[in-house]
Amino acid sequence: NPATSWPAGKPAYTTEYTEEYDLSDPKGSFEKVGRMILQEMVGELPGLYELPPKEASWVERSLEYNTQGGKMNRGLIVVETGVMLLKHQGREVTNADLHRFAVLGWAVEYLQACMLMADDMMDGSVTRRGNPCWYRLPEVGLLNTNDFLMVEMYVYKIVKRHFGKEQIFPWLIDLLLETTFQTECGQLLDSICANCDLEELTTERWTLIVKYKTAFYSFYLPVALAMLVTGVRDHKAFDTAREALLLMGIYFQAQDDYLDAFASPEVLGKVGTDIQDKKCSWLFAHAYHEQSTPEAKAYLDKHYGNCEVGSEEEEKIKDVYKELGLQELFAKYEADVEDQLEEYKAKVRDADLPWSIFERFFELIHKRKK
Ligand code: FPP
Ligand code: MG
Repeated sequence: NPATSWPAGKPAYTTEYTEEYDLSDPKGSFEKVGRMILQEMVGELPGLYELPPKEASWVERSLEYNTQGGKMNRGLIVVETGVMLLKHQGREVTNADLHRFAVLGWAVEYLQACMLMADDMMDGSVTRRGNPCWYRLPEVGLLNTNDFLMVEMYVYKIVKRHFGKEQIFPWLIDLLLETTFQTECGQLLDSICANCDLEELTTERWTLIVKYKTAFYSFYLPVALAMLVTGVRDHKAFDTAREALLLMGIYFQAQDDYLDAFASPEVLGKVGTDIQDKKCSWLFAHAYHEQSTPEAKAYLDKHYGNCEVGSEEEEKIKDVYKELGLQELFAKYEADVEDQLEEYKAKVRDADLPWSIFERFFELIHKRKK
């Protein structure tokens, strides 16, 4: 690209991988690639962007703080899916393949990181992954906005460094951009709830919100990246994968909503804010519309989105959820999702995809406690 190529040798592309990717230690190997990427990215700052040491260290610290230390499920799934696809295609899995999957996995982790940095500021969240949210550090504050935009750009810089010379490069970028836009639509739907009447926070709206704000980037994206990079080109395969993965992604966010109220912050690594923030959560939508009693409704009308974190009213709303039988209803919903997923088995086989991808993904999230 004449507009963005620098003098000879810059920016460098990484196309060879000398470290061994040890599949018997999936997390350790994935983390190792994460550190390599971080070093590559930070390493470019003084030379290509003339950043002095202080600023380069700031970026490094922000990347360390915000992209490392998560569960890494989304990233790891790219590697696992890639391996399953290659095996399914009867191909050998090389060390370079594993590194390439991991690089795309980290692109998803960086995308998630920047969205969480923005989301925590919007939601007024206090902790993330067991630490104070980045924007809450006194020296960060509103600089968080620039920091999360930089993390977002790193998604593309990582992919460019490792796939920039390949034919599928524009497709990878397009998928990441589309997915980001879908997530932004979801974030809009989620945020506008603050200006809605409680009547509008229905289970239909909930489904729409979570499909867009969570399911595309968390579930479809990792699998679709692995499909693209292993050479899958059939539309039907992507459509089938998307359908099954969106179902799982919606369930995953139902769990997030459930845990927001009922899991302990120590286990969860974050403090729930859905009740104060007047979120259209799975619990609220069911409590207000499907399972309601006049008393429960009156209490929610008065206090939902109108109380403090850790207040008596917030606790009472959680009691209302329990009294309305939402914990039992959630268990039933969980079982329904399991049944619905079974119905995809035949379709997935029909699309020439290995069912193990979907099984594995579901196993990772099923009945999760954090
Ligand atoms: C978390 O949901 C929400 C997201 C991960 C989506 C956030 C999307 C954006 C901020 C728009 C895109 C932004 C950029 C920088 C590209 P949640 O609030 O239910 O999760 P939580 O319980 O973990 O806080
Ligand atoms: Mg949010």
